Amino acid sequence: MTRFIYLDNNATTPVDPEVLKEMVPFFSVYYGNPSSPYRLGQEAKQYVKKSRIALARFLGCEEEEIVFTSCGTESNNAAILSALRTTGKKRVITTATEHSAIYELCVDLEKRGFEVLRIGVNASGLLKLEEIEKLLTADTAIVSVMWANNETGVVFPVEQIAAMCQEKGVLFHTDAVQAIGKIPIDLSKVPVDFLSLTGHKFYAPKGIGALFIRKGKQFEPFMRGGSQEMHRRAGTENVPAIIGMGKAIELLSQNMEEDNKRILQLRNLLESRILEEIPFTRVNGDKEHRIVNTTNIFFEGVDSETLLFDLDQKGIYASGGSACTTGSLKPSRVLTAMGLNPIEAKSSVRFSLGRYNTEEEIHRAVDEIKNSVEKIRKKLPRSS
Ligand SMILES: Cc1ncc(COP(=O)(O)O)c(C=O)c1O
Repeated sequence: MTRFIYLDNNATTPVDPEVLKEMVPFFSVYYGNPSSPYRLGQEAKQYVKKSRIALARFLGCEEEEIVFTSCGTESNNAAILSALRTTGKKRVITTATEHSAIYELCVDLEKRGFEVLRIGVNASGLLKLEEIEKLLTADTAIVSVMWANNETGVVFPVEQIAAMCQEKGVLFHTDAVQAIGKIPIDLSKVPVDFLSLTGHKFYAPKGIGALFIRKGKQFEPFMRGGSQEMHRRAGTENVPAIIGMGKAIELLSQNMEEDNKRILQLRNLLESRILEEIPFTRVNGDKEHRIVNTTNIFFEGVDSETLLFDLDQKGIYASGGSACTTGSLKPSRVLTAMGLNPIEAKSSVRFSLGRYNTEEEIHRAVDEIKNSVEKIRKKLPRSS
């Protein structure tokens, strides 16, 4: 039996042992700086190129269109800030349910005099597309819409929005951090201009991300320094992590379909057992347009922090919202945007599954969730 049951793969994933194995020599054998002209440096450079090619193939783009960054947050910031600079325009269109890596950047932009328009979602968390149509004017610097939501797993119609932006001649960015490895992405078919991703959501280490920049699109980095990444991202490359992400991508290319089938079955098992066996529960978010690994469940009369604490004591890890907002007393911005009241939002838990979960774990987790919910409901007076 495992030490604990990890159901928080949208927060981060463990590094795949094959990824780790691939990385190790780059700490102590091939440790050269890719910018150094001698062999040790040039060898490192070749391996970085190999990872770039793997990522480009996986995304259906060219290797020159990939810029390695430190994380998803950096990629998101780089894309938006670049668009504001290169276009000189003041308006950003985004959604009400973006991750804080876009949301907080936009709040800051507003303080600095930029205009931010946020597209709402309906009760299922689906984007109100007609609002984009209405607001999308040529004086928009960039539209930024996440591909899959980290809290509910709901998928936005990025293909359609990208086409709308292309037609209007407006730059389009997507935060694909939660989509990579869960939804097949082919950038040769979708007119996205910028796409952000991060390694630690697909079994690569933390501290490595990438930004896709469509060929021919202007880009201005916000950070100044060396000429790495073809002058698009200064700073010595994190070679071991880049190698790790390359390997993780290779593994996705081989196993994604099979893995996702299995993860979907496990997610559905978890969800259906909870809904059937625990009264007064329901799923937050559209069940059809959703990534395979995520379910966000409302437990009436159960404070999610109390439930998560109880589960933590039993070695079961899940989340009350995004990991980046854990500890904040505010109800989830994503769930309230869907129309949940603050109490409902604070009675909801996200379960996100991954490659290493087993059926046995899911059964054990549901049994424990059931016990915890019963215990909490007995103790606490109903909030409604
Ligand atoms: C949708 C989304 N965007 C961006 C990020 C930020 O990625 P990173 O932690 O690599 O900065 C996350 C991480 O949870 C995320 O879920």
